[in-house]
Amino acid sequence: MKDNRSYYDDFAGWYERERHHGYHAMLDRLQVGIARPLAAGKDVLELGCGTGLILKEIEPYARRAVGLDISRGMLGQAHARGLSVLAGSATDLPFKDESFDLVYSFKVLAHVQAIEQAMREVARVLRPGGRAALEFYNKASLRYLIKRFKRPHKVSDGTTDDQVYTRYDSLAEVKRYLPADLSVVDLHGVRVFTPFAQVHRVPGVAQALSAAERIARDQALTARFGGFLVVIVEKR
Ligand SMILES: C[S@@+](CC[C@H](N)C(=O)[O-])C[C@H]1O[C@@H](n2cnc3c(N)ncnc32)[C@H](O)[C@@H]1O
Repeated sequence: MKDNRSYYDDFAGWYERERHHGYHAMLDRLQVGIARPLAAGKDVLELGCGTGLILKEIEPYARRAVGLDISRGMLGQAHARGLSVLAGSATDLPFKDESFDLVYSFKVLAHVQAIEQAMREVARVLRPGGRAALEFYNKASLRYLIKRFKRPHKVSDGTTDDQVYTRYDSLAEVKRYLPADLSVVDLHGVRVFTPFAQVHRVPGVAQALSAAERIARDQALTARFGGFLVVIVEKR
């Protein structure tokens, strides 16, 4: 098992190889679609911004948008995009209390062991009435079922995806991690129906699945079964 910083430093050069089309591009579109309406005109923080793929889509809409990430390898590319980013951990945020109206995080919290500490930090840096969009890997999902039977996936020459700490949580568990001043106000589910990333390489299937995923993301009935569960919380 590698620590997150060295795992993502190794992965950084490869990260965007498959991110601009197909399955991964769909995930990013669905996630941007959640964060963008919340970010309009606000002071925004992205936890685990990586190379800035999502931050670059949010920044033009925000009053101020800042990205934080533990990996300098990943941040190098975000910096090259002209984004405002800094190094640090989600469990020890280098910001004053009540600095942001919105905190969001996609594909990151699943790699954070001290999750309650990260939730306390989110609460601390949010202003009263501020919101956070926090994505978890969902135990109640097709993705989780399938992942349990899959072989490790190569993410760079010397690294496979089983070398980083990864957690899966249920909605009930996520609610238990939240400090008392954060309450859940909405839910979204990303990747409800997609069984394997590879199906998005099939023309026709890709379009139909993307359209279905777009609808399922925001419906209460389907959102809770998303492979990626996005919990919208509000600070008292
Ligand atoms: C799968 S990437 C996602 C990057 C970006 N959110 C996106 O959607 O493209 C996960 C990112 O989380 C970062 N990360 C992992 N643990 C972290 C922590 N404790 N604090 C901040 N960033 C962390 C990694 O360095 C990596 O850039």
